[in-house]
Order: sequence, then structure tokens, then C-alpha cells
Amino acid sequence: MRSSSATAAPAAKTGRAAETGRAAATASAAYLRLRGVQKSFGETPVLQAIDADIDRGEFVTLLGPSGCGKSTLLRTIAGLSSLDAGDIAVAGETITHLPPQRRDIGMVFQHYALFPNMSVADNVGFGLRMRRVNQAERRERIDQALTLVDLQAHARRFPHQLSGGQRQRVALARALITRPRILLMDEPLSALDAKIRQHLREQLRSIQQTLSLTTLFVTHDQEEAMMLSDRIFLMGEGRILQHGDAESLYTRPASEAVASFVGAYNTFDAEQATRLLGHDTQGRRFAVRPEALYLVADEPSSSLPPNPGPGCPGRIVARQLLGSIVRYRVDCDGLSMNVDTLNRGARFLMATKTPVVVYADVDEVRVMS
Ligand SMILES: Nc1ncnc2c1ncn2[C@@H]1O[C@H](COP(=O)(O)OP(=O)(O)OP(=O)(O)O)[C@@H](O)[C@H]1O
Ligand SMILES: [Mg+2]
Repeated sequence: MRSSSATAAPAAKTGRAAETGRAAATASAAYLRLRGVQKSFGETPVLQAIDADIDRGEFVTLLGPSGCGKSTLLRTIAGLSSLDAGDIAVAGETITHLPPQRRDIGMVFQHYALFPNMSVADNVGFGLRMRRVNQAERRERIDQALTLVDLQAHARRFPHQLSGGQRQRVALARALITRPRILLMDEPLSALDAKIRQHLREQLRSIQQTLSLTTLFVTHDQEEAMMLSDRIFLMGEGRILQHGDAESLYTRPASEAVASFVGAYNTFDAEQATRLLGHDTQGRRFAVRPEALYLVADEPSSSLPPNPGPGCPGRIVARQLLGSIVRYRVDCDGLSMNVDTLNRGARFLMATKTPVVVYADVDEVRVMS
């Protein structure tokens, strides 16, 4: 979802070239642009010169381990936390020093932060009251916002009469009612149980697409990030380590930090990789996903990838059932790795101590920088 120019006015006879030029400049610029964003708490740097370009209407997820700076980055964009250095711009205008209420940015937090003594309708309409929008328009927009999150029937209830998922939908309606230019969401689904979470993900993505709303969403759930996002920004220690769509991040991680976070990759030093791949790997480190390794107990086997490498003999040392996946821990004479296979039923499970040969799908092995 790339930006389109919303400002491409119909070109008058005079000034057509100038209009076209401006439209082109708008189309090529990011809608939300971060440059050199830095923040420390005391001596500890938490955001280290972050640059990012997010397009209009794009759904971007910040993914990363606890403490890497995701919430801090969101708070600086919302204006809830000041920057030490850098610049934040929306649609070409810097907002770095604007107070939060003048940024036109909506935010939804992990814990709903609803006003307990206000009805759902009053919670949702709060931002409009602050902006002194008249009652008739307020009513209409509350109704629209509640319809969007499918909660019209609950307008008169109070937060304590709602489920967690419903409360979070009220928080979303409250953030959307002011028609923000950007929506920031900090782990909005992580307090909910798995089933509701799945449902709300779909609802959220559908609303975001309907409104074509530029959204920055925080999670540390890899699956959630992959399902929802146009692009994922993977953060580590206050930096953006890699960004791209879900597939590129998952299958082509550029560093061990990314590999260990997005795909439970096995990593190998040069000597180990040489044993697995059967050729000199020239001092480089490698990573391979558990599902790109193949276990063979009784040779010969037809279930090998087209380019399997020489194979490493070993033994199963542990087995974990992960629903549709069975993860085996295999030891090949000191070289230890995880191998994922599809759980095809009890009669196919291999016991610990079973001798096996591990083959790597050589085309799926990644060199680490
Ligand atoms: N107000 C504060 N004062 C001091 N240190 C802070 C403050 N807010 C955050 N930090 C520190 O900054 C770092 C980043 O925090 P942040 O909340 O941005 O992480 P996060 O990526 O959102 O983590 P999580 O996934 O656990 O929510 C952490 O080490 C945290 O302890
Ligand atoms: Mg956080």
C-alpha cells in the first residue's frame, strides 16, 4: 500500500507544471517520517537515531523484545514523551515540538484506559467534547464510530459491564472518532484471550483498510505482526534492525538478532555450518529455520528437499509437541539443532534416542552479517 497524492488538485491551464511537480513531490515523500530520533532515560539510551518512512494508509508493526523501545517510540510520536534529538514529520510538516493534542494522532493502549464512570457513548465522544463539537454532530459521529466497531447495542453500558475485547473496541472507537491522521496502538490485543484476539485482529485490519488509516502497531507477538502488517519494523536495543514485509523478514533475516526473533532459527558458526553443509563456509556464520531441516530415520527417503546437502548423523534428544508441529532437538555429535516436522499423528512420532540423519535445505540456509 503505497502513498498516493491527496493534494493533486485539478490542474488549471496556468501552473499545470507546478501542480504536477508538487503532486509528484508529495507522492514520493513518506507520510510519517522519523529522522535521527533519539531518547535516553538518564544515562541509558533507549532510542538510538531511529529513521523510518511510513506511507499513507500503511499498516506498520513495530516488533521486538521487551524493553527494546517500542512503547517509547510510540510515545514520542504521540508527543507523550519528548525527544533528545531528531525530527518527526507528518505529511511534510514537522510535529516534533507540538503538544499531543495538536498532533492529530490517535492512540490505543494495552490497558483500555476508559473512564469508568462514563457510558460507552460518553467515552467514545470524549475527544469531540474536548473539541467543543456540538451535540447533534457528536451523537452522529458516536453512532458511526460505534457502528464501525460493532458496538451500537452497548452505547449505554459502562466499562465494567463489558468484556475485555469490547472494552478494547470502545478504546478503538474513541481513538478513531476524531479522525486522526495516524493511529498508534501499543499492544492493544495482548491482554485478551487467544480467540477474541484473533477475531479483533481481523476486525482491526478491516477497519484500518476501510479508513485507509496510517497505523503504527506495537506487538511482541511475531504471528500477530505477520498477519496484520504491510510492513514490519523489527526493533532491538533502541534501533530498527530490519524492515520489510513479513515474508522477507521471516525468510531472509539479515542478522542473528533478527533470525532469533522472527523464526526460532538455528544458528551455526563456520565450523558447524561446514559439517552440516559439507563445504568450507569460509568463516561465516549461518542460520537455518527448524522447518528447513529434514529428519530421516530410515534411509533411503523421498522426503528430502531438492538440494539437501550431505546430511549429519545424530540422535533425537528431545521432542516437543507444538500443536500442528513437532519440534525435535537433535544432537549430531555435539552439533545441536531444532528440527520442525508436521505433526501427522502418533504413529509417525519418533522417540528420543532414535538415530537420524539431518539434512538442510541448502537453498534456505542464510548467511548472517
Ligand atoms: N519513564 C521511564 N524512565 C526510565 N526508564 C524508562 C522509562 N520508560 C521506559 N524506560 C526504559 O526504556 C526501555 C524501553 O522501554 P519501552 O517501554 O519503550 O520498551 P518496550 O519495547 O515497549 O517493552 P515491552 O515490550 O516490555 O512493552 C526500558 O529499558 C525501560 O526500562
Ligand atoms: Mg511496551
